Amino acid sequence: MKKLILALAVLVSLSAAAQRSQDKKKMDAFITNLMKKMTIEEKIGQLNLVTPGGGIATGAVVSSNVEAKIKEGKVGGLFGVHGPEKVRQAQDFAVKQTRMKIPLLFGSDVIHGYKTIFPIPLGLSASWDMALIERSARIAALESTANGLNWNFSPMVDIARDPRWGRVAEGAGEDPYLGSQIARAMVRGYQGDDMTKPTTMMACVKHFILYGAAEAGRDYNTTDMSRIKMFNEYLPPYKAAIDAGVGSVMSSFNDIDAVPATGNKWVLTDLLRGRWGFDGFVVSDYTSVNEMIAHGMGDLQAVSALALKAGLDMDMVGEGFLTTLPKSLKEGKVTEKEIDQSCRRILEAKYKLGLFDDPYRYIDTSRPAKEILTADTRKAAREIAARSFVLLKNNNQVLPLKKSGTIALVGPLANNKNNMLGTWAVSGDPQTSIPLLEGMKNVAGNGVNIIYAKGANITNDTLLAKKVNVFGTRIDIDKRSPEEMLKEAVEAARKADVVVAAVGEASEMSGESSSRSDITLPESQKKLVRALVQTGKPVVLVMMSGRPLALEEENELTTAMLQTWHAGSEAGNAIADVLFGDYNPSGKLTATFPRNVGQVPIYYSQRTTGRPATSEEFKKFQSNYLDVPNSPLFPFGYGLSYTTFSYGDVKLNKNSMKPNEAITATVTLTNTGKYDGEEVVQLYIRDVVCSITRPVKELKGFQKVFLKAGESKEVSFKITAEDLKFYNSELNYVAEPGDFKVFIGTSSQEVKEADFKLQ
Ligand code: NOJ
Repeated sequence: MKKLILALAVLVSLSAAAQRSQDKKKMDAFITNLMKKMTIEEKIGQLNLVTPGGGIATGAVVSSNVEAKIKEGKVGGLFGVHGPEKVRQAQDFAVKQTRMKIPLLFGSDVIHGYKTIFPIPLGLSASWDMALIERSARIAALESTANGLNWNFSPMVDIARDPRWGRVAEGAGEDPYLGSQIARAMVRGYQGDDMTKPTTMMACVKHFILYGAAEAGRDYNTTDMSRIKMFNEYLPPYKAAIDAGVGSVMSSFNDIDAVPATGNKWVLTDLLRGRWGFDGFVVSDYTSVNEMIAHGMGDLQAVSALALKAGLDMDMVGEGFLTTLPKSLKEGKVTEKEIDQSCRRILEAKYKLGLFDDPYRYIDTSRPAKEILTADTRKAAREIAARSFVLLKNNNQVLPLKKSGTIALVGPLANNKNNMLGTWAVSGDPQTSIPLLEGMKNVAGNGVNIIYAKGANITNDTLLAKKVNVFGTRIDIDKRSPEEMLKEAVEAARKADVVVAAVGEASEMSGESSSRSDITLPESQKKLVRALVQTGKPVVLVMMSGRPLALEEENELTTAMLQTWHAGSEAGNAIADVLFGDYNPSGKLTATFPRNVGQVPIYYSQRTTGRPATSEEFKKFQSNYLDVPNSPLFPFGYGLSYTTFSYGDVKLNKNSMKPNEAITATVTLTNTGKYDGEEVVQLYIRDVVCSITRPVKELKGFQKVFLKAGESKEVSFKITAEDLKFYNSELNYVAEPGDFKVFIGTSSQEVKEADFKLQ
């Protein structure tokens, strides 16, 4: 029977492969035929991506004369154009008024939802729930395609280990294994199993490569990294997206080995296409071709030629390709073959989206009203947001709150629609979001008396407010004096049984071009927290931020802290669901929270040193600090629940395995508390003896397990040689025989361990 099933499976996959190869032949023939008729100018036109601006610009310059350029066949794709009517109008220009009638791509940054906004990606990742993340991407694709879009500049999979970098908000945190799972889930969510469906869109993995490793956490800054670190720690999520079939890749702004990614042949051709076999197209980041002039790589003609020859196919906004490639071709600086190759890749993407069959495939005026920001998508946003929150602290089990008595709800983010959506919600409307005050009233019902006071401005620094308010008012400095606001909040606190303080960052204090050198709460809010604590009432902090903040003082002072990121359209309802215990929090951190910024870059999987610290106390001649322990404030994988979980010892079914065998590691997990709840059980591995230095621990598996109060369950993980592989000094992906440790636990720090050998 088994053999029969196997034989059938082989047959099915053979026939699927045969079908794929036939489809490819058909596509190749179609495109070859089309390209035969195209002039060189028309081919170069396909390589041009423009944005007419309007709405929220995502870069410093916007394109001009877009309509005329489309009609002249000088545009391959557009972004920043939304809605079936507008998309139809632009598509009409392309398919009715150009000689070749080639349809346009319509792109956008749909980073964590389109109109229904989900938590920022860093928050989404804290759910550790791949089905949920895929669902958020699926809904994002549904809404975007309903509005005429077919191409998404997401997922952003840059590993980020420096919370000063504002774009840490946009990714899945610090870990390559988790990041890879999330990259796959998002690509699946956007592209589905068939890109020609009018409800799926092409994804674009970004920023290729290493954008998250910008020195000093300053955006657009240089990066420098060994190949070993790159391959083992930074590249896996990009590769996972490629392996999942992502249709396009965006090059990053930074340099790699001193050559900007956008003009880096090793990155865009040798690695991406040669080593990984990527067959989609590569788009530059916003004017990143032109920015190679500032990098010192030559004038516009030189940098455009450099980019094309390196393997870049499409030029975002800068028009270096459009304006200089004809001249470079004449002068022999690029070849027709190189232009053809890039043009073909873009035409292939259009073919795969089904645009040659029907350029209006994604245009249906009846869809937006039915599919965008509906009761269902809002419900999903609420559920998903609640699952992204991380309970950092809960002394005296002050949470969940009772649905009775008096609650003082204070803080600049307590009743603030403008900051719920978070960074990179360019299509979302903040006015459609639910602030916390509204959410608490919705969830608590009439039994609770809520007294609201703003208490403080997000910051009193008017200059900072001006820098942050570029896309609209995010920091609103009150007409009242700080003292007056503080007084009102303290009075509210005195009248209450418990204080809930919503504090943190405005949404645009993270995201692109929003690096911070100080990652503590702004002083105005620190003062508020101190004053509230002085009333002697229990203080629950609802933390909203786009990055891990350094919260040592707040952790000392307050009774409870719930990290809620920027939670999206349903923020207020979701936070209230958790505060009042309608949902028991299950999120776990995916980026380490440092004690102070001096510990940065800080991440759990640091490589071994020759002088490891043996305790939290300072010891001379060990790798530690005079003024702060090595440990973070909250480690990767950390997050509490209203219930408690206990872990039994790690049991292995054997202590030694051959490369083609597997070991099963099992723990018994018990819900020892009073609430039903979910726990993310985490598996880490350490390669004890190896030809290169290895991380002290690496995540290699996790399971989200639901247990009723008092219930126990055995949780098992299968470990194979694949989980033990790494890139060695020759960049070969190998598992070396020897000793390994396996750790299973509730965070990267709190684990039980066992040992085994690979023979
Ligand atoms: C620049 C950003 O780096 C990138 O992530 C984004 O997709 C483009 N702008 C387009 O908005």
